Amino acid sequence: MKDYLHIEEVAKRFGETEVLNGISLTIPKGGFVALLGPSGCGKSTLLKIISGLETETAGRIRLAGEWLAGVPAFRRDIGVVFQSYALFPHLSVAENVRFGLDMRHMGRAEADDRVREALALVKLDGLGDRMPRQLSGGQQQRVAIARALAIRPRLLLLDEPLSNLDAILRKSVRVDLRELHDRVGATTVMVTHDQEEAMSMADKVAVMHDGAIEQWGSPEDIYERPATAFIGTFVGNPPASMVTARRHLSGGWRIGDMAWAPDPALADRLDMVRNLDVTLGLRAERIDLVERDAPGAFPAELTSSEYLGGERLLHFLADGHRVAVAHAGASPEIGQVVGLRPRTADVMLFDINTGLRIDAR
Ligand SMILES: Nc1ncnc2c1ncn2[C@@H]1O[C@H](COP(=O)(O)OP(=O)(O)OP(=O)(O)O)[C@@H](O)[C@H]1O
Ligand SMILES: [Mg+2]
Repeated sequence: MKDYLHIEEVAKRFGETEVLNGISLTIPKGGFVALLGPSGCGKSTLLKIISGLETETAGRIRLAGEWLAGVPAFRRDIGVVFQSYALFPHLSVAENVRFGLDMRHMGRAEADDRVREALALVKLDGLGDRMPRQLSGGQQQRVAIARALAIRPRLLLLDEPLSNLDAILRKSVRVDLRELHDRVGATTVMVTHDQEEAMSMADKVAVMHDGAIEQWGSPEDIYERPATAFIGTFVGNPPASMVTARRHLSGGWRIGDMAWAPDPALADRLDMVRNLDVTLGLRAERIDLVERDAPGAFPAELTSSEYLGGERLLHFLADGHRVAVAHAGASPEIGQVVGLRPRTADVMLFDINTGLRIDAR
């Protein structure tokens, strides 16, 4: 079912504050979608509206062919793992997992089966009698997911499910969670402000900004073809560097006060831009270090260098613009001025005023 979850022009206001303005999304059955955006952009609010814990100010939502307006949260058959995935500390693991089943007055034998099944799904078989405090953070997180899965939800909503885990556990649970999804096939919407998490786990990502969806696409779309400069600086590790190039009256371009002669193919693309200024989006792994006056390069001073194992992330200053470059070879000295030559086909151009990407590649 291609429009299993269908969100149509959903808006939410708290008093005078517009938190969501006209969100529309359609998610197929079995899909795994991430809502990605900075803190406060409205991700949790959208999830709460889908689950029925908040009411939309406008718009409507359909799940598996049923319009949800007026359907109370407990009748929606939606499993939710909240941002702080608090388990009930005074209940055992099994009792936590069966909580939603008791709410639904499920018979004892059937509920026992469901609890066993849900704990097996998250690979916590046999730990049902433990208390939450006797589990690691990652195990507690899996109990919260088992609790959401036990009701065999029509939809699984995860709000920052990995936020309480340390960096190493996060990466392994990330893989576990995706594998679990592929096994169970539950249609999943995951909220995160961590772009790496969104990109690595989801089939499709909705990038949210100020209560609206700024781009909806595959992780590759979002990385390779960000719709706006905001997305370019939000997605990627490190995010793209943004550099303003100014058209010079005598022809040619400047970066700050430095003359820059982009190679002819890039110059052609830049010439299509009508504004005096244009924002260049440069990915760290798509810039070459060259001699400072090599063709197509602009000069930049190395200000710091991070060793990442295998390669370095070099931080340059090009007349006031910060530019990060991923580099595997020998590093220049701090303070040294070298040439940075962006790979022409990979340079992203954005409108200086609107932030919208200018050219389709
Ligand atoms: N019940 C409420 N009353 C008033 N304002 C609210 C309420 N809930 C959320 N907000 C506001 O709505 C905005 C969006 O909040 P929301 O929790 O959806 O953000 P978020 O994207 O989940 O952020 P985070 O990544 O920090 O969790 C925030 O500015 C928040 O202060
Ligand atoms: Mg939130």
